[in-house]
Amino acid sequence: MADLTGRTAIVTGGATLLAHGVISALAQAGARVVVADIDELGGGAAESLGAEVVYRRTDVTKDGEIAALIEATVERFGGIDIVVNLAATYLDEGFATRRSDWLTALDVNLVSMVEVVRAAHPHLAASAGGAVINFTSISSKVAQTGRWVYPACKAAIVQLTRSMAMDFAGDGIRVNSVSPGWTWSKIMDDLSGGDRAKTDKVAAPFHLTGRVGDGREVGEVVAFLASDAASVVTAADWAADGGYSALGPEQAVPAIPQLAD
Ligand SMILES: NC(=O)c1ccc[n+]([C@@H]2O[C@H](COP(=O)([O-])OP(=O)(O)OC[C@H]3O[C@@H](n4cnc5c(N)ncnc54)[C@H](O)[C@@H]3O)[C@@H](O)[C@H]2O)c1
Repeated sequence: MADLTGRTAIVTGGATLLAHGVISALAQAGARVVVADIDELGGGAAESLGAEVVYRRTDVTKDGEIAALIEATVERFGGIDIVVNLAATYLDEGFATRRSDWLTALDVNLVSMVEVVRAAHPHLAASAGGAVINFTSISSKVAQTGRWVYPACKAAIVQLTRSMAMDFAGDGIRVNSVSPGWTWSKIMDDLSGGDRAKTDKVAAPFHLTGRVGDGREVGEVVAFLASDAASVVTAADWAADGGYSALGPEQAVPAIPQLAD
């Protein structure tokens, strides 16, 4: 298990269901966590994760609110060692998406990652274990029907991660991205009416694990990437996708035997 004792992490977009698993993994590894989101941390989540997890309302598209987040985090915990850029919008109408929505989505999904890291940079550089983990997705590498904006944002994040890693290496800051496959999340909970078994059944043909992942499983990968256990890892995109990215159009079905049928 990753050891993050004494480290302080900011998790943007941390109020959502998937992020809860990420925060619990970081907190259990010993990190103090500041959850930065426009949504409240519902259901007593902060309390259930202990005194070392605090919530601060932050819109990551507003530079003033980012500055206040950084200031409050340093005041409360004395520094910043880890930034997890998880906040995202699924705003996407494919070809029909108009310029203003493109720009909004790019702002939330991509540009805000840069601005949060810009504000945190002096503290990450001062840390003995500065680490940034950017959330991208399996959607960065495949075409998905009716989706143009979200996959483009996620693909850009893979490249942004390389650029950040390159230019921050001299500051001792490692930068990696994580690409979840389908992960049990608010949108799945809403769309399936809370039916995890049905969701797993839909996901099974395109995940080698035969199911959706858990936020906590993704969180374990994030905690590893944030920790000294990953000291040799930077500029990498880590799949946390149940094997989704290994599958081709043949899925996991023996195709050649079908020639003899
Ligand atoms: N759900 C999946 O299966 C899946 C798969 C691959 C990757 N991901 C990635 O994981 C992350 C979480 O996905 P999710 O499905 O839980 O998404 P979600 O929509 O449930 O959560 C996104 C969070 O970001 C917050 N947010 C949005 N705009 C913000 C802003 N301006 N400032 C601060 N916070 C803001 C929202 O309030 C929300 O809490 C995203 O980066 C997503 O791309 C998810």
